[in-house]
Amino acid sequence: MAQEKSIDQKVDSLIKLMTLEEKVGQMNQYNGFWDVTGPAPHGGNAEVKYQHLKNGLVGSMLNVVGTEEVRKLQQLVVEETRLGIPLIFGYDVIHGYKTLAPIPLAEAASWDMEAIEKSARTAAEEASAVGLNWTFAPMVDISRDARWGRVMEGAGEDTYLGTCIAKARVKGFQGGDLSQPNTIAACAKHFAGYGFAEAGKDYNTVDVGTATLYNSILPPFKAAVDADVKTVMNGFNTLNGIPVTGNSFLQRDVLKEKWGFEGFVISDWASIMEMIPHGFAKDLKHAAELGAKAGSDMDMESYAYVKHLVENVKEGKVDETLVDDAVRRILKVKFELGLFDDPYKYCNEEREKERLHHKDNHASVLDMAMKSIVLLKNEHNLLPLKKDQQKIAVIGELADDKNSPLGSWRLGSDDNSGVSVIEGLKAYTEDFKYAKGPKIFHEGANFLNEVGVNETDRTGIDEAVELAKESDIVLMVLGEHGFQSGEGRSRTKLDLPGVQLELLQAVHEVNQNIVLILMNGRPLTINWEAENVPAILETWQLGSQAGNAIAKVLFGDYNPSGKLPMTFPRSVGQVPIYYNHFSTGRPNPEANVFWSHYSDEKNEPLFPFGYGLSYTTFEYSNFQIDDSDQNSIKVSATITNTGDSDGEEVVQLYIHDKTASIARPVKELKGFQKISIPSGTSHNVEFNLTDKELGFYNHQYQYVVEPGEFSVMVGTNSQEGLTGTFTKD
Ligand code: BGC
Repeated sequence: MAQEKSIDQKVDSLIKLMTLEEKVGQMNQYNGFWDVTGPAPHGGNAEVKYQHLKNGLVGSMLNVVGTEEVRKLQQLVVEETRLGIPLIFGYDVIHGYKTLAPIPLAEAASWDMEAIEKSARTAAEEASAVGLNWTFAPMVDISRDARWGRVMEGAGEDTYLGTCIAKARVKGFQGGDLSQPNTIAACAKHFAGYGFAEAGKDYNTVDVGTATLYNSILPPFKAAVDADVKTVMNGFNTLNGIPVTGNSFLQRDVLKEKWGFEGFVISDWASIMEMIPHGFAKDLKHAAELGAKAGSDMDMESYAYVKHLVENVKEGKVDETLVDDAVRRILKVKFELGLFDDPYKYCNEEREKERLHHKDNHASVLDMAMKSIVLLKNEHNLLPLKKDQQKIAVIGELADDKNSPLGSWRLGSDDNSGVSVIEGLKAYTEDFKYAKGPKIFHEGANFLNEVGVNETDRTGIDEAVELAKESDIVLMVLGEHGFQSGEGRSRTKLDLPGVQLELLQAVHEVNQNIVLILMNGRPLTINWEAENVPAILETWQLGSQAGNAIAKVLFGDYNPSGKLPMTFPRSVGQVPIYYNHFSTGRPNPEANVFWSHYSDEKNEPLFPFGYGLSYTTFEYSNFQIDDSDQNSIKVSATITNTGDSDGEEVVQLYIHDKTASIARPVKELKGFQKISIPSGTSHNVEFNLTDKELGFYNHQYQYVVEPGEFSVMVGTNSQEGLTGTFTKD
């Protein structure tokens, strides 16, 4: 508390010394623009930015990495500007910097909060060693639409799970003490609603009602704020007609007032400027006015504040106290990071050498990768593979791909640095043969371009079929290219791209002993595959250690324990599809057509939220509800490992508030426990339901708990479990 006070006092004294121009400078963030090891830039945008840095008109940089680069820019600002206020350096450390953990959606499939926190910690250790002190993560956008490419970056469709993960990741990045050189400020993004882009098309309109906004979208942000997240990023989307960047209800009334957020809000890339094409601001000056008034504290690459905010203040359009408030927030975070004590604290060259690719980082991401794998099907216990007993074929271009497992947010990592499936298998056996099959993805895909997909050339299928014929078991690695999910990567089809299904079907004609290893950044529609292939492993994009993690699971050295954080649809037409939907007035099948359904597709998904198998089996029994203490209703069940191997189970608790003043979803996750159960033993699991779990937000954004009957389920996924009811007085 004493330290808090002194930071506030220091901030106040500093602000008193600052000119309006310098204050606005703190609110300006630029992208890296110049190779700092070369001469100072002459001409163009680069020179302008350079001069702005020297004149104290820049508060932060993004995409500048490396101790040498960071030190050089920091020096420029600290030594040459009038007040020497250090820069804060941000970067998209989404699931690691150089050593990559699984994509966040995959991590969410682990349902393991300790592991997720540790993964963020590992990322922060590495990122902080290259001069960075701020990550633009975690993305806590809930999304129910697998067409949207950025589902890979979040925790999936569920608000409760997303809330737990938001906390874990903020804690992991920020550690216990932000002033340590191995901790970095986190950023909850994109505030708010971005995951509800219409039709899953990136940057698209978001139009949602208050029930969804308050109960489904906002809670993970609130959880991040409660976990003391230092920054929040707004987004590209409009929310009910107002760009979130210019939305003072969200940024001022909710975030800063109601939740008491004391950190600062960064705009998304050029999102202040984008209020012009949205039809909300008439020009850049107007955009600067609207952004500043609405509580967007820092401008990322719109050049709106640096060009127009001073003018707006002088003309009385923006009150200077709003500028002061923004600057106070920004300076406070810089103080908390310890940048005023030592602006170069993140620039330790030795630590940089030591931490990059450190073996501890690889051990950590390998562990996370194994935990993220979901076993979707395993008929006749085809898995795990028996070591040295079978003739194994490996088929598919992705098996040999060292980039795709890294996903699309891999800016800091080295090309081809992921362990491929082939390499992972080699650690177990040299005794397998590989056929690449047809070329699926054209060369040249990168962060900026669309991925070209082969839809016609079948060359390579015959060779794969020949290999399959002479093999006992076929491991087929199919899925999406690493750059097919992520920002700007929406899809209207969710099947295996290109000729991959044809390849699979051709192989299946000659050999049905297939293990399908899926590598993808979003739920896919894999109906034929789910029906015909006996074993399916969902491996997402598992990061640097992908192949090793997959091999360990294939050979049974790790028993899969992941559960889907997002529903797998049967067809794109079902999307958005999510387990915690509302009932309709006509939920049940009728003899005629007049009930809520499709004529050409089931209502049910292919794989539900929370679904995932193990090499062992679990049985649920002894379900009990004790509602004698209404402040803490106890729900318990016994889970027995009835199979032959030890395993972990994610025990999930769902409630349904049967009648309420605002209709509640048919089911809502309100608790889970990941437990390890040795073969042949049982474990009793108990959950406590308090007002925190039983209430909801009404249209006035008040949290209410209403009396009435609830049903409750404890189970292995969102559709299967033991159920009962209780009454809340
Ligand atoms: C993304 C953000 C990201 C920013 C900086 C934007 O395009 O939407 O999530 O942090 O770029 O790279």
